[in-house]
Amino acid sequence: MEFSVFLFLALLTGLLLLLVRGHPKDHGHLPPGPRPLPFVGNILQMDRKGLLKSFLQLREKYGDVFTVYLGRRPVVILCGTDTIREALVDQAEAFSGRGTIATVEPVFQGYGVIFANGERWKILRRFSLATMRDFGMGKRSVEERIQEEAQCLVEELQKSKGALLDPTFLFQCITSNIICSIVFGERFDYKDRQFLRLLDMFYQTFALATSFYSQMFELFSDFLKYFPGPHRQIYKNLQEINTFIGHSVEKHRATLDPSSPRDFIDSYLLCMEKEKSKPHTEFHHQNLILTLFSLFFAGTETTNTTLRYGFLLFLKYPHVVERVQKEIKEVIGSHHPPSLDDHNEMPYTEAVIHEIQRFSDLLPIGLPHMVTKDTAFRGFIIPKNTEVFAILSSALHDPHYFEKPDDFNPEHFLDANGAFKKNDAFVPFSIGKRICLGEGIARNELFLFFTTILQNFSLASPVAPEDIDLTPRESGAGRVPPTYQIRFLPL
Ligand code: HEM
Repeated sequence: MEFSVFLFLALLTGLLLLLVRGHPKDHGHLPPGPRPLPFVGNILQMDRKGLLKSFLQLREKYGDVFTVYLGRRPVVILCGTDTIREALVDQAEAFSGRGTIATVEPVFQGYGVIFANGERWKILRRFSLATMRDFGMGKRSVEERIQEEAQCLVEELQKSKGALLDPTFLFQCITSNIICSIVFGERFDYKDRQFLRLLDMFYQTFALATSFYSQMFELFSDFLKYFPGPHRQIYKNLQEINTFIGHSVEKHRATLDPSSPRDFIDSYLLCMEKEKSKPHTEFHHQNLILTLFSLFFAGTETTNTTLRYGFLLFLKYPHVVERVQKEIKEVIGSHHPPSLDDHNEMPYTEAVIHEIQRFSDLLPIGLPHMVTKDTAFRGFIIPKNTEVFAILSSALHDPHYFEKPDDFNPEHFLDANGAFKKNDAFVPFSIGKRICLGEGIARNELFLFFTTILQNFSLASPVAPEDIDLTPRESGAGRVPPTYQIRFLPL
């Protein structure tokens, strides 16, 4: 039988079943939403521009809490700052489960901190946070590592002698090197072939995993997984990265000194050793590899893309750069490199970095959550294990919290006296128990990288500011700025 005929018959059978049985199996008392078709769910309500656009359209009709069916899976969508806080903060435990991302599920399979659930997640998260914090005490701090990397970047940019360049590659190098330094205890030269291969894998995988195709894959993974397509490439890339990490772990094992762990891997290997007699320990090889992988997966392209959006915004709004550079001159001067102590005295720079993160809206639909038990929320009952998407973009653009949500305006984070002003809708790292585990590191990176570059260089573009286009290339699971070229001119 031809495949298209088979598909048609399958759809028809499903439709008949639905008509006979009414609404798809009533799960608890889910929030309302568009009526799904069998197998394909709410495909008809999905906008060609991706999930975010579709959800924002459905919000107009169904309000801040509604249900959509991605294929056969019901997913509860939460929009707006107050709704998201009410769920992720006020009922933190219930909303702390992790849902799946269909394209990467075959690799993670519920292991590693980012996709783990239950006790496994709690143990891995506690360990990861404590180990990364430890680097601030006694051992070389994360701050020192970022400062060192920032100086390497300055040297590299000086070599460019003001030539036009696409900053993507260098920003990838510096952000990956921070994770490498924490995880492997070493940074890599920007020309190291193995390092370059690793970067290429991350870049490709992030682009594929956030593409429109991957969003479609979320809807039809049960069916599409049997056919060739980018999901196979993602799987191949992720396997290659895993092999790289695996080799590094073996090298660490051979040179481990129990009295002085050098990095994340050493600390984990020591826990493995301590717990080796426990039959159900979570400190095993698979969790190690996939937790390291989680840090790379979550911690490289995110920071790199934010830096890239930041410099594009700087080219578009030169008056903002002038004010940041004035503050750098006044607070830091030009004789010593920026440090985290300078941070508190630089409210304008702090506001600019917040506004870059708000405006760039890197992960507009966040990462999928899942409720860990039957959960009462706003008059509905969300059954245990139902997936939940908190639409971070709807908070970052919340008109109740930001005067002009669609404009880039650092004043959103400044009070009338020019002091830094917090905002409850600022959630680029999400909120609640699953809040980004690398938030502290990412914030430190953004501050030190932005200020070190602006302390040493002025910026120039071949395109006039008014002609610079800020429209992201993908507006699906990840928003990536358009490609651009920039000159870094030594000051
Ligand atoms: C600007 C940079 C970054 C942004 C915008 C960002 C954003 C996010 C967001 C939105 C989540 C999902 C939270 C949720 O499920 O509700 C997340 C999770 C996570 N991030 Fe980040 N992140 C950044 C950098 C980093 C860095 C540098 C690291 C590692 C050092 C990192 C490690 C993680 C991990 C491990 C998780 C999963 C946490 C868990 O499931 O418990 N992130 N991040």
